[in-house]
Amino acid sequence: MPSTEPLIRNISDTARWVAVYRARETERPDALFRDPYARRLAGKRGEEIAAAMDARSRADWPFPIRTYLFDSLIAEHVRGGGDRVVNLAAGLDARPYRMDLPPSLEWIEVDLPEILDYKEGILAAERPRCALRRVRLDLANREARRDLFADLGRDARNALIVTEGLIIYLTREQASALAEDLAAPPGFKRWVLDLASPGLRKMLVRQFGTLLDEARAPLRFSPDEGPAVFEPQGWHPVEARSYVKWAARKGRLNPVMRLLALLPESKGRQGSRPWAAACLLERRVP
Ligand SMILES: C[S@@+](CC[C@H](N)C(=O)[O-])C[C@H]1O[C@@H](n2cnc3c(N)ncnc32)[C@H](O)[C@@H]1O
Repeated sequence: MPSTEPLIRNISDTARWVAVYRARETERPDALFRDPYARRLAGKRGEEIAAAMDARSRADWPFPIRTYLFDSLIAEHVRGGGDRVVNLAAGLDARPYRMDLPPSLEWIEVDLPEILDYKEGILAAERPRCALRRVRLDLANREARRDLFADLGRDARNALIVTEGLIIYLTREQASALAEDLAAPPGFKRWVLDLASPGLRKMLVRQFGTLLDEARAPLRFSPDEGPAVFEPQGWHPVEARSYVKWAARKGRLNPVMRLLALLPESKGRQGSRPWAAACLLERRVP
Protein backbone atom coordinates (compact mmCIF):
# COMPACT_ATOMS: atom_id res chain seq x y z
CA MET A 1 0.00 0.00 0.00
CA PRO A 2 1.44 3.43 -0.83
CA SER A 3 2.44 5.46 2.25
CA THR A 4 0.49 8.64 2.97
CA GLU A 5 3.24 9.91 5.24
CA PRO A 6 4.85 13.09 3.89
CA LEU A 7 8.51 12.80 2.90
CA ILE A 8 9.44 15.45 5.46
CA ARG A 9 7.30 14.36 8.40
CA ASN A 10 8.14 17.20 10.76
CA ILE A 11 10.64 19.98 11.43
CA SER A 12 13.22 17.52 12.79
CA ASP A 13 13.41 15.73 9.44
CA THR A 14 15.02 18.91 8.08
CA ALA A 15 18.03 17.93 10.23
CA ARG A 16 18.27 14.63 8.32
CA TRP A 17 18.09 16.56 5.04
CA VAL A 18 20.92 19.01 5.79
CA ALA A 19 23.16 16.26 7.16
CA VAL A 20 23.30 14.85 3.61
CA TYR A 21 25.18 17.93 2.37
CA ARG A 22 27.78 17.48 5.10
CA ALA A 23 28.18 13.86 4.00
CA ARG A 24 28.60 14.88 0.35
CA GLU A 25 31.14 17.55 1.26
CA THR A 26 33.11 15.07 3.35
CA GLU A 27 33.46 12.79 0.34
CA ARG A 28 34.95 15.52 -1.90
CA PRO A 29 38.72 15.51 -2.35
CA ASP A 30 38.72 19.28 -1.73
CA ALA A 31 36.36 19.13 1.26
CA LEU A 32 36.09 22.32 3.31
CA PHE A 33 35.48 20.18 6.41
CA ARG A 34 35.03 16.51 7.16
CA ASP A 35 32.10 15.06 9.04
CA PRO A 36 32.60 11.29 9.09
CA TYR A 37 29.30 10.81 10.97
CA ALA A 38 27.04 12.73 8.59
CA ARG A 39 26.23 9.88 6.18
CA ARG A 40 25.10 7.60 9.01
CA LEU A 41 23.19 10.37 10.74
CA ALA A 42 21.35 11.48 7.59
CA GLY A 43 20.15 7.91 7.01
CA LYS A 44 17.83 6.73 4.28
CA ARG A 45 15.20 9.37 5.02
CA GLY A 46 17.80 12.13 4.71
CA GLU A 47 18.92 10.80 1.32
CA GLU A 48 15.34 10.63 0.08
CA ILE A 49 14.62 14.19 1.14
CA ALA A 50 17.84 15.47 -0.44
CA ALA A 51 17.01 13.66 -3.69
CA ALA A 52 13.59 15.37 -3.77
CA MET A 53 15.26 18.73 -3.10
CA ASP A 54 17.89 18.07 -5.80
CA ALA A 55 15.05 17.62 -8.29
CA ARG A 56 13.90 21.16 -7.43
CA SER A 57 17.32 22.85 -7.30
CA ARG A 58 20.83 21.57 -8.00
CA ALA A 59 22.42 24.60 -6.32
CA ASP A 60 23.49 22.93 -3.10
CA TRP A 61 26.74 24.90 -2.60
CA PRO A 62 25.24 27.13 0.16
CA PHE A 63 24.94 24.20 2.60
CA PRO A 64 28.63 23.25 2.91
CA ILE A 65 29.56 26.94 2.81
CA ARG A 66 27.22 27.56 5.75
CA THR A 67 28.78 24.70 7.72
CA TYR A 68 32.28 25.94 6.88
CA LEU A 69 31.48 29.50 7.99
CA PHE A 70 29.83 28.35 11.23
CA ASP A 71 32.85 26.11 11.91
CA SER A 72 35.18 29.09 11.43
CA LEU A 73 33.15 31.42 13.65
CA ILE A 74 32.89 28.79 16.39
CA ALA A 75 36.63 28.00 16.22
CA GLU A 76 37.45 31.72 16.43
CA HIS A 77 35.22 32.12 19.49
CA VAL A 78 36.85 29.17 21.23
CA ARG A 79 40.36 30.40 20.38
CA GLY A 80 39.37 33.81 21.74
CA GLY A 81 38.62 32.36 25.17
CA GLY A 82 35.04 31.11 24.82
CA ASP A 83 34.24 28.56 27.52
CA ARG A 84 30.82 27.34 26.37
CA VAL A 85 28.89 26.73 23.17
CA VAL A 86 25.10 26.46 23.31
CA ASN A 87 23.81 24.97 20.07
CA LEU A 88 20.05 25.52 19.87
CA ALA A 89 18.22 23.27 17.41
CA ALA A 90 21.45 21.29 17.05
CA GLY A 91 19.80 18.54 15.02
CA LEU A 92 22.37 16.04 13.73
CA ASP A 93 25.31 18.38 14.04
CA ALA A 94 28.44 16.46 15.08
CA ARG A 95 30.84 19.34 15.75
CA PRO A 96 31.70 18.19 19.29
CA TYR A 97 33.04 14.96 17.70
CA ARG A 98 34.67 16.28 14.58
CA MET A 99 36.13 19.71 15.40
CA ASP A 100 39.43 20.33 17.09
CA LEU A 101 38.13 21.52 20.47
CA PRO A 102 39.72 21.78 23.91
CA PRO A 103 38.49 19.10 26.39
CA SER A 104 37.64 21.89 28.85
CA LEU A 105 35.07 23.41 26.49
CA GLU A 106 31.45 22.84 27.53
CA TRP A 107 29.10 22.19 24.64
CA ILE A 108 25.35 22.03 25.12
CA GLU A 109 23.01 20.80 22.40
CA VAL A 110 19.31 21.56 22.58
CA ASP A 111 16.66 20.02 20.33
CA LEU A 112 13.44 18.05 20.39
CA PRO A 113 13.56 14.61 22.05
CA GLU A 114 13.04 12.40 18.97
CA ILE A 115 15.97 13.73 16.95
CA LEU A 116 18.34 13.76 19.93
CA ASP A 117 17.38 10.17 20.84
CA TYR A 118 18.03 9.12 17.25
CA LYS A 119 21.38 10.92 17.18
CA GLU A 120 22.49 9.52 20.52
CA GLY A 121 21.72 6.02 19.25
CA ILE A 122 23.90 6.50 16.17
CA LEU A 123 26.78 8.14 18.04
CA ALA A 124 26.66 5.87 21.11
CA ALA A 125 30.11 4.38 20.48
CA GLU A 126 31.80 7.70 19.63
CA ARG A 127 33.56 10.06 22.02
CA PRO A 128 33.14 13.83 21.86
CA ARG A 129 36.30 15.92 22.13
CA CYS A 130 34.84 18.30 24.70
CA ALA A 131 32.33 18.09 27.54
CA LEU A 132 28.99 17.48 25.82
CA ARG A 133 25.51 17.67 27.30
CA ARG A 134 22.20 17.22 25.49
CA VAL A 135 18.98 18.89 26.52
CA ARG A 136 15.68 17.66 25.12
CA LEU A 137 13.46 20.70 24.99
CA ASP A 138 10.81 22.30 22.82
CA LEU A 139 12.30 25.74 22.34
CA ALA A 140 8.82 27.10 21.71
CA ASN A 141 8.15 26.62 25.42
CA ARG A 142 9.16 30.07 26.59
CA GLU A 143 9.15 29.46 30.30
CA ALA A 144 11.19 26.28 30.02
CA ARG A 145 13.75 27.85 27.70
CA ARG A 146 14.17 30.89 29.93
CA ASP A 147 14.91 28.56 32.85
CA LEU A 148 17.40 26.65 30.72
CA PHE A 149 19.12 29.84 29.49
CA ALA A 150 19.34 31.19 33.04
CA ASP A 151 20.91 27.91 34.15
CA LEU A 152 23.37 27.80 31.23
CA GLY A 153 24.24 31.48 31.45
CA ARG A 154 24.86 31.56 35.20
CA ASP A 155 28.28 29.95 35.32
CA ALA A 156 29.42 30.70 31.75
CA ARG A 157 31.99 33.47 31.35
CA ASN A 158 31.87 33.72 27.59
CA ALA A 159 29.27 31.58 25.88
CA LEU A 160 28.58 31.48 22.16
CA ILE A 161 25.01 30.76 21.11
CA VAL A 162 24.65 28.88 17.82
CA THR A 163 21.41 28.69 15.86
CA GLU A 164 22.04 27.18 12.45
CA GLY A 165 19.02 26.58 10.24
CA LEU A 166 16.49 27.62 12.87
CA ILE A 167 15.57 31.30 12.59
CA ILE A 168 14.14 31.05 9.07
CA TYR A 169 11.42 28.71 10.41
CA LEU A 170 10.22 31.21 13.04
CA THR A 171 7.78 34.08 12.78
CA ARG A 172 9.12 37.59 13.42
CA GLU A 173 7.48 37.57 16.86
CA GLN A 174 9.01 34.20 17.75
CA ALA A 175 12.47 35.25 16.55
CA SER A 176 12.34 38.55 18.48
CA ALA A 177 11.20 36.78 21.65
CA LEU A 178 14.06 34.29 21.29
CA ALA A 179 16.54 37.16 20.85
CA GLU A 180 15.14 38.80 23.97
CA ASP A 181 15.46 35.61 26.04
CA LEU A 182 19.00 35.02 24.78
CA ALA A 183 19.97 38.54 25.82
CA ALA A 184 19.04 37.94 29.46
CA PRO A 185 21.88 35.74 30.84
CA PRO A 186 25.06 37.81 31.32
CA GLY A 187 27.27 34.88 30.25
CA PHE A 188 25.71 34.75 26.76
CA LYS A 189 28.12 37.03 24.92
CA ARG A 190 27.88 36.21 21.22
CA TRP A 191 25.45 34.58 18.85
CA VAL A 192 26.11 33.08 15.43
CA LEU A 193 23.07 32.59 13.21
CA ASP A 194 22.17 32.38 9.56
CA LEU A 195 19.98 35.02 7.98
CA ALA A 196 18.38 35.13 4.54
CA SER A 197 17.16 38.20 2.67
CA PRO A 198 13.48 38.52 1.73
CA GLY A 199 14.50 37.93 -1.91
CA LEU A 200 16.24 34.65 -1.11
CA ARG A 201 13.39 33.40 1.06
CA LYS A 202 10.95 33.98 -1.79
CA MET A 203 13.21 31.96 -4.10
CA LEU A 204 13.51 29.12 -1.57
CA VAL A 205 9.75 29.06 -1.02
CA ARG A 206 9.27 28.71 -4.79
CA GLN A 207 11.75 25.82 -4.89
CA PHE A 208 11.07 23.90 -1.69
CA GLY A 209 7.91 25.47 -0.24
CA THR A 210 5.43 22.67 -0.89
CA LEU A 211 7.60 19.99 0.73
CA LEU A 212 8.25 22.13 3.80
CA ASP A 213 4.62 23.24 4.11
CA GLU A 214 3.53 19.59 4.18
CA ALA A 215 5.82 19.11 7.16
CA ARG A 216 4.33 22.23 8.79
CA ALA A 217 7.80 23.79 8.60
CA PRO A 218 7.30 26.79 6.29
CA LEU A 219 10.13 29.23 5.69
CA ARG A 220 8.92 32.36 7.43
CA PHE A 221 11.59 34.77 8.61
CA SER A 222 13.85 36.85 6.39
CA PRO A 223 14.22 40.20 8.11
CA ASP A 224 14.43 43.21 5.88
CA GLU A 225 16.81 44.83 8.39
CA GLY A 226 19.49 42.15 7.83
CA PRO A 227 22.00 41.51 10.64
CA ALA A 228 20.77 44.57 12.58
CA VAL A 229 17.42 42.88 13.15
CA PHE A 230 17.99 42.07 16.81
CA GLU A 231 19.54 45.40 17.83
CA PRO A 232 16.39 46.32 19.77
CA GLN A 233 17.04 43.23 21.94
CA GLY A 234 20.69 44.26 22.45
CA TRP A 235 22.36 42.03 19.81
CA HIS A 236 24.73 44.10 17.65
CA PRO A 237 26.14 42.85 14.36
CA VAL A 238 29.88 42.18 14.43
CA GLU A 239 30.12 40.70 10.96
CA ALA A 240 28.19 38.90 8.26
CA ARG A 241 29.99 36.34 6.11
CA SER A 242 28.09 36.19 2.87
CA TYR A 243 27.66 32.71 1.42
CA VAL A 244 28.08 33.79 -2.18
CA LYS A 245 31.29 35.75 -1.47
CA TRP A 246 32.79 32.82 0.42
CA ALA A 247 31.62 30.30 -2.16
CA ALA A 248 33.43 32.39 -4.79
CA ARG A 249 36.59 32.43 -2.68
CA LYS A 250 36.41 28.68 -2.27
CA GLY A 251 35.85 28.03 -5.98
CA ARG A 252 32.35 26.60 -5.55
CA LEU A 253 30.43 28.74 -8.07
CA ASN A 254 29.58 28.37 -11.74
CA PRO A 255 30.71 31.20 -14.08
CA VAL A 256 27.39 33.10 -13.88
CA MET A 257 27.32 32.97 -10.08
CA ARG A 258 30.99 34.01 -10.01
CA LEU A 259 30.05 37.20 -11.85
CA LEU A 260 27.13 37.84 -9.49
CA ALA A 261 29.46 37.34 -6.54
CA LEU A 262 31.51 40.31 -7.74
CA LEU A 263 28.64 42.72 -7.09
CA PRO A 264 29.17 44.83 -3.99
CA GLU A 265 27.01 44.01 -0.98
CA SER A 266 25.70 46.43 1.57
CA LYS A 267 26.32 45.65 5.24
CA GLY A 268 22.62 45.89 6.06
CA ARG A 269 19.43 45.49 4.06
CA GLN A 270 19.60 43.24 1.01
CA GLY A 271 15.95 43.52 0.03
CA SER A 272 14.93 41.55 -3.05
CA ARG A 273 18.49 40.44 -3.75
CA PRO A 274 19.02 36.73 -2.97
CA TRP A 275 21.47 36.88 -0.07
CA ALA A 276 22.32 34.77 2.96
CA ALA A 277 25.09 34.98 5.49
CA ALA A 278 26.46 33.51 8.68
CA CYS A 279 26.12 36.44 11.05
CA LEU A 280 27.98 37.07 14.27
CA LEU A 281 26.17 39.22 16.82
CA GLU A 282 27.45 40.52 20.14
CA ARG A 283 25.44 41.31 23.22
CA ARG A 284 26.12 44.90 24.27
CA VAL A 285 24.70 46.07 27.53
CA PRO A 286 23.50 49.68 27.18
C1 LIG B 1 17.27 22.55 9.53
S1 LIG B 1 17.47 21.65 11.01
C2 LIG B 1 19.06 22.29 11.52
C3 LIG B 1 19.80 21.34 12.39
C4 LIG B 1 21.25 21.73 12.68
N1 LIG B 1 21.35 22.98 13.37
C5 LIG B 1 22.04 21.76 11.39
O1 LIG B 1 22.37 22.85 10.92
O2 LIG B 1 22.33 20.69 10.86
C6 LIG B 1 16.35 22.45 12.13
C7 LIG B 1 16.39 21.88 13.55
O3 LIG B 1 15.58 22.70 14.39
C8 LIG B 1 15.00 21.87 15.37
N2 LIG B 1 13.86 22.57 15.95
C9 LIG B 1 12.88 23.20 15.27
N3 LIG B 1 11.95 23.68 16.12
C10 LIG B 1 12.38 23.37 17.37
C11 LIG B 1 11.85 23.58 18.68
N4 LIG B 1 10.70 24.21 18.85
N5 LIG B 1 12.56 23.13 19.72
C12 LIG B 1 13.72 22.47 19.54
N6 LIG B 1 14.27 22.23 18.32
C13 LIG B 1 13.60 22.66 17.26
C14 LIG B 1 14.62 20.64 14.57
O4 LIG B 1 14.34 19.52 15.38
C15 LIG B 1 15.84 20.47 13.68
O5 LIG B 1 16.81 19.65 14.30
